[in-house]
Amino acid sequence: MIKIALSKGRIFKETLPLLAAADIVPADDPETSRKLILDTNHDDVKLVIIRATDVPTYVQFGAADVGVAGKDVLMEHGGEGLYEPLDLGIAKCRLMTAGLIDAPRENKNSRGRKRVATKFVNVTRRYFESRGEQVEVIKLYGSMELGPIVGLADYIVDVVDTGNTLKANGLEPLDHIADISSRLIVNKAAMKMKHERVQSLIDRMRKAVA
Ligand code: ATP
Ligand code: PRP
Repeated sequence: MIKIALSKGRIFKETLPLLAAADIVPADDPETSRKLILDTNHDDVKLVIIRATDVPTYVQFGAADVGVAGKDVLMEHGGEGLYEPLDLGIAKCRLMTAGLIDAPRENKNSRGRKRVATKFVNVTRRYFESRGEQVEVIKLYGSMELGPIVGLADYIVDVVDTGNTLKANGLEPLDHIADISSRLIVNKAAMKMKHERVQSLIDRMRKAVA
């Protein structure tokens, strides 16, 4: 049995053609089905549908053998117990700091200790530490853009693609932290114990990416 952890939405949609290239076709659409474990065209391949942030955890503990996760989520998780053999080149975006457009830069920099709202608290702490800046990190679970508008935080750290969400909320992108795309991740034990199946999946998906 091979269990593949995927999140609904853009990762599921963008992974579908890559799975098809590896001859894996889901029996249901997670957007319409309430099932959390989807059958596929193979009796011994199942898709486990979970929150994007939870994918590395399921794979780390072997609850799924393989998964697809954004590099942002992997950086935050830390990658323990996982291999990351393949960049799938999907769900591309940038992890950035952002702040209010009308806040003068010198004011932003002159504060004693900036407050930064984000769901990526580990990445954010590491990033500001590496710059020798002490910040107060506030954990949020979504809609980070609201933080600076309502005075909860001076900055946010979030993924940016078109920049439309920032712009629509009067924010501007500031510092680039990392380029992001989704990766195929594999449980370290599964890579050994189910080597043939997992390696064949990696090879077929790699060809499809190329
Ligand atoms: P969760 O449900 O766990 O809070 P999420 O809502 O961030 O996660 P998605 O929106 O499906 O989940 O994002 C999955 C991944 O897609 C992110 O981890 C990131 O790598 C990438 N991503 C997020 N937003 C964008 C975007 N606007 N454009 C391109 N890629 C994105
Ligand atoms: C993500 C992210 C930003 C937005 C950035 O949210 O948290 O809010 O995308 O994308 P943009 O720069 O193209 O505006 P979410 O996953 O909700 O995006 P979605 O609305 O596209 O699903």
